[in-house]
Order: sequence, then C-alpha cells, then structure tokens
Amino acid sequence: MKKNLIIFGTRPEAIKMAPLVKEFLKHQENFVTKVCITAQHREMLDQVLAFFDISPEYDLNLMKPNQNLYSLTADIITSLKPILEEFQPDYVYVHGDTTTTMAASIASFYAGAKVCHVEAGLRTFNKLSPFPEEINRSIAGRISDYHFAPTQTSKQNLLKENVSEETILVTGNTVIDALQFSAQKVNSTDFEDTQINELKTILDTNKRLILVTGHRRENHGQGFINICTALKKITLENPDTQIIYPVHLNPNVQKPVYELLKEIENIKLIDPLSYPAFVWLMDKSYLIITDSGGVQEEAPSLGKPVLVMRDTTERPEAVDAGTVVLVGTNTDKIIDETNKLLANDESYRKMSKLHNPYGDGNACKRIVEFISKL
Ligand code: UD1
Ligand code: UDP
Repeated sequence: MKKNLIIFGTRPEAIKMAPLVKEFLKHQENFVTKVCITAQHREMLDQVLAFFDISPEYDLNLMKPNQNLYSLTADIITSLKPILEEFQPDYVYVHGDTTTTMAASIASFYAGAKVCHVEAGLRTFNKLSPFPEEINRSIAGRISDYHFAPTQTSKQNLLKENVSEETILVTGNTVIDALQFSAQKVNSTDFEDTQINELKTILDTNKRLILVTGHRRENHGQGFINICTALKKITLENPDTQIIYPVHLNPNVQKPVYELLKEIENIKLIDPLSYPAFVWLMDKSYLIITDSGGVQEEAPSLGKPVLVMRDTTERPEAVDAGTVVLVGTNTDKIIDETNKLLANDESYRKMSKLHNPYGDGNACKRIVEFISKL
C-alpha cells in the first residue's frame, strides 16, 4: 500500500487538486491518501473545500492578515515537519507556483518523499513576472521527481531545463477536471447555491456583463490604481455595460478597489464567490478582465474572451489561439481593448471561440494511472 500526501494552501490550488483527491480516493485498494492544507488562504480555501466536500486530515491554519513571504515560507516548512515524520508519505503532491507549493516541496524533499508536481513546467522565463510564482514553480520543478505538465508547451519548458523525459507526463490541466465536476454538480436536481440566487438579483440582464478579478502582487500599488481608473472609464463610456467584480480578500487589493470603485454606478463590488457561482457568472459574462492564471484557463472552454492584466503569461496557448490578449496594467490599453470588443462584432466573434487548449477533463485519471504503474 503506497501512501500519498496531497498538500495545498490557496483557492486555486484547492480547485485544481480537489479532483485529484477524489480520483485517488477511488483507488483505496492501492493507496492511502491524506490531504494537508497549509491554509495559506482561509475563507477562500474553505469555500472550495466545502463545495468539493473535502475534509483534510491536517490543517496547519497558517494564514495571518497581510502575511509576508518570509514568515509564511518558514512557517510552512516548520509546520510540515511533524506531519511528514508521522505519516511518512511515499509520494507528496504539490500544485503550481504558490508559497505553499515551493515550501512544501522543500519540506517533502527533506523528508525523503518523492515529490510530484501537478501543473508543472509553466514558465515566463522572467524571474520577476509573475512574482514570486516564476521562481516558486522553478524551485518545485527542480526538486520534483515526477512532473505532470498540462500541455506540450510546458513539457518542452521542462526538457529545456534538462528534466528527464520519462519523469514528465502531459496530462492536461486538472482545472478542466474541476470545471466538469462543477458543471455536473450544478446541473444535478438537488443543487442549490445561495450565491447564484443572490447574483441573479444583482445581474442586470439588459446590460453586457464584464466580469473582473485581480490579485497579482506585481500589480499591487500603481497597477491597481490604473486598473480601477480604466474600469471606471469603461462603465462611464459604455452605459450599456455592467461590471461585477468579486474582490480578492488580500488587503492590498481590497483597499484600492473599494476606495476607488465603491460608489460607481454600474460597478458591483462583491465578496469572492464560491467556485460554482463564479463559473456560473463566467458563463453569463460578455467578456472577462483578469490577472488570474486559473481564469485564463477556464474562459476558453466557456468561449469567453479574456483581457489579461499582465505583461507576461506562462499560458501562451490561448494567446496563440487569439482568445486571450495581454493588456498589462496600462489604463488606456485596458480601455481600448475593451471598447474594441464592445463596439466591433467581428473582433468579438474572433475572440469568443470555444476551445480547450488546457485539457479534456481526464488529467487526474492520467496522474493516478502513472503513479499506479511506478
Ligand atoms: C496567493 C499566491 C498566488 C496565487 C493567489 C491566488 C503566493 C506568494 N501567492 O496570493 O500565487 O495566485 O494566492 O489567489 O503564494 N486573505 C484573506 N482570506 C483568504 C485569503 C487571503 O483574508 O482566504 C488575505 C490575508 O490578509 C492574507 C492576504 O490575503 O494575508 C494575502 O494572502 P497570500 O496567500 O499571501 O497572497 P495572495 O495575494 O492571496
Ligand atoms: N474563482 C472563484 N471565485 C471567485 C473568483 C475566482 O472560485 O470569486 C476561481 C476561478 O474559477 C479559478 C480560481 O478561482 O479557478 C482562480 O483563482 P485566483 O485568481 O485567486 O488565482 P490564480 O489562478 O491567479 O493563481
């Protein structure tokens, strides 16, 4: 019997690891699988655990208000030690590029476990963008024994870093597994989500919906001021649009966004949504403006155009397909690209192509099959 420890800490990791937890739990004849959350996020993580019905065996409960990278990194490594020593996992699974990912991969390496990196090989090759994620995922990749790359592009990035080919498996991104799980659950007859019911009361169906999210560290400060200025101008120039913005709980985001946009007509600032409610809202939107990694991956499979408020992306597939455009945090560029999509049917049609560059919903099955064969 092999022992698995699946470690995650933030909202996007939870969404993308939940289907892997569920898949391993279908194979209890071969694996003992436990979940450890660092709780680098708290409320936003708990929302995801509730929806996917996951009760972690270990909860490090580490989130502090406005936490910093130094103490969070140290706390994760130190707090994982007794758990790794007690459970002695054969395999530890980490996801993507957060502080939890990087610190948990180091701790697991110290404990002698095989480290399995899910969503491996994403790179911008710019160590400052996204910060600190590019370095986090490079460190996790350097430590990992097995690399589950979502696309061929991410596999090629790993090969360029001399990762041996037999340790890499192209799986698709587990976010598509999560999206399919969510669609299935939402469509079941007994499903009720209070947030979806609340959204129906604020959604103005006579207006085109622009859905906004943002949180990147490199956009804190002036970046968020530029973004908010752009959003304000967009609604003033286009009274037939409504912006709904579920605001990330990071105080560096909450403060400028509420200060600058609280009183603006046609802009609704709301708390972070549950995963199914957010997916429901994406589906209702005309276009999405975001700096999120996960949203860039989900939107193409819903046929929604995305303007990405970043200068670089480690997810070039949808940019190449023309459904994602990078606009950075330049106020004029955000306004111009939005106006183009609002005014020009042909531009809109080209960008709202439904496609699935990030997976087919079977990523977790492939991961479990690969590990089972080792
Ligand atoms: C983190 C990740 C980022 C990921 C993002 C997803 C790092 C360095 N950053 O950024 O890669 O894209 O999560 O959202 O790993 N907070 C709450 N409640 C919550 C969550 C956050 O109050 O449920 C507040 C707290 O004050 C916390 C702060 O947000 O200290 C920052 O959280 P942190 O995880 O350090 O950074 P994020 O910006 O969320
Ligand atoms: N999401 C959510 N509720 C929200 C906003 C986003 O459940 O109010 C989901 C979204 O569908 C995606 C993930 O959260 O799967 C993205 O998380 P985030 O933008 O925080 O992090 P990133 O993907 O940039 O690391």
